[in-house]
Amino acid sequence: MEEPNLKYFSGFGNELASEAIENALPERGNTPQKCPYNLYAEQLSGTAFTCPRAANRRSWFYRILPSVKHSPFKPYEIKNFTMGWNNRVPNPNQLKWNPFDIPPEDTDFVDGLSTICGSGDPKTRHGIAVHVYACNKSMANRCFCNSDGDFLIVVQQGSLLVTTEFGKMKVDQEEICVVQQGMRFSVDVDGPSRGYILEVYDGHFEIPDLGPIGANGLANPRDFKTPQASYDGNFMRPDGFEIIQKYQGYTFKATQDHTVFDVVAWHGNYTPYKYSLKNFCVINSVSFDHIDPSIFTVLTCQSNKPGVAIADFVIFPPRWSVQENTFRPPYYHRNCMSEYMGIIKGGYEAKAVTPGCSTLHSMMIPHGPASNVFEAASNATLKPERVAEGTMSFMFESSLGLALTEWGEKTCEKVDENYSKCWQGLEAKFDKNLKI
Ligand SMILES: [Fe+2]
Repeated sequence: MEEPNLKYFSGFGNELASEAIENALPERGNTPQKCPYNLYAEQLSGTAFTCPRAANRRSWFYRILPSVKHSPFKPYEIKNFTMGWNNRVPNPNQLKWNPFDIPPEDTDFVDGLSTICGSGDPKTRHGIAVHVYACNKSMANRCFCNSDGDFLIVVQQGSLLVTTEFGKMKVDQEEICVVQQGMRFSVDVDGPSRGYILEVYDGHFEIPDLGPIGANGLANPRDFKTPQASYDGNFMRPDGFEIIQKYQGYTFKATQDHTVFDVVAWHGNYTPYKYSLKNFCVINSVSFDHIDPSIFTVLTCQSNKPGVAIADFVIFPPRWSVQENTFRPPYYHRNCMSEYMGIIKGGYEAKAVTPGCSTLHSMMIPHGPASNVFEAASNATLKPERVAEGTMSFMFESSLGLALTEWGEKTCEKVDENYSKCWQGLEAKFDKNLKI
């Protein structure tokens, strides 16, 4: 895999300007009568033109050809990448998946997409989907573009070199990237690669407000990295270049005789970005109690209801645990939100899991630590200790009810039928005469 000396801007949601060739951006305005170097100007809107200034997102490209010069779209099937969660009988059970297979045959990022579960409909701009990618081949002469929403990509195995119209970004294990609605991108890999994708239809991700935490902590804005402009000097593709477009839950293919990565300069505040989970500044209780997992939120896509997320991206990084008189692992609970959790690296403190495993605990369905974890943590000597050392796990938490695709529930053949047994060893130890 090509590993160029990549350069990034630091910050989140900033107004940026980037030139791969000096003076390729217009000196004044966005649409001069003739652009520098005979480039074409093209705007990519990430919010309605009339959104309030603080929420308004758009970028301007200065490119060799405008995006519109391509053949008509024709249906293109990616077998397990569907909105097939509709019209299926729901499954409320606690679910655990063993790691999804990476195909033995040559498969690139796009053809290796499979949908596990989802909710809603991109036509009405409301909903989410949880996908997995599993691939072993770079995308040569083709790109992917999503009309439906934003992709938050969590690398679990292997590294991705993500080429976008804005430039390139390398995304390693324990890093994520976000490619927002409408941004064309291509993925190179250097071997078997796997990861998870949270797709949101409603809006864009933002860093959560910090409230009384103050101005710093959790995911700090400076740690988000946006690629700097670079374009493919080998512009023509006589053998054809494909655009795989996801549109209203279906995929389509168009072709053209040149690459889409022809943006010589750009400016704006609607960009792809990446983030290293190692930079997350963990805030937690230093007195007593297990704090709600929202304290680990990296990014959130908010609904119209105050404080209610369409989806939160939450991580459980290595940290110190120091609480006194506290059952330190996650508490037993039933949640009005849906929780899809995945293991990036190592294990997880409340369950027997391995990297690539994932779980779904649906709305109001009870869950919590396995019985052996309960016993051990109830009797442990509480001293300051490192938890989650050498591990990284994450959760997609959504206020929407998630429904499974047939692939997610059956044909992936990764559902662990014995999962619920991990709680069956819990004993009723109630003794009203017990003196504590
Ligand atoms: Fe939970």
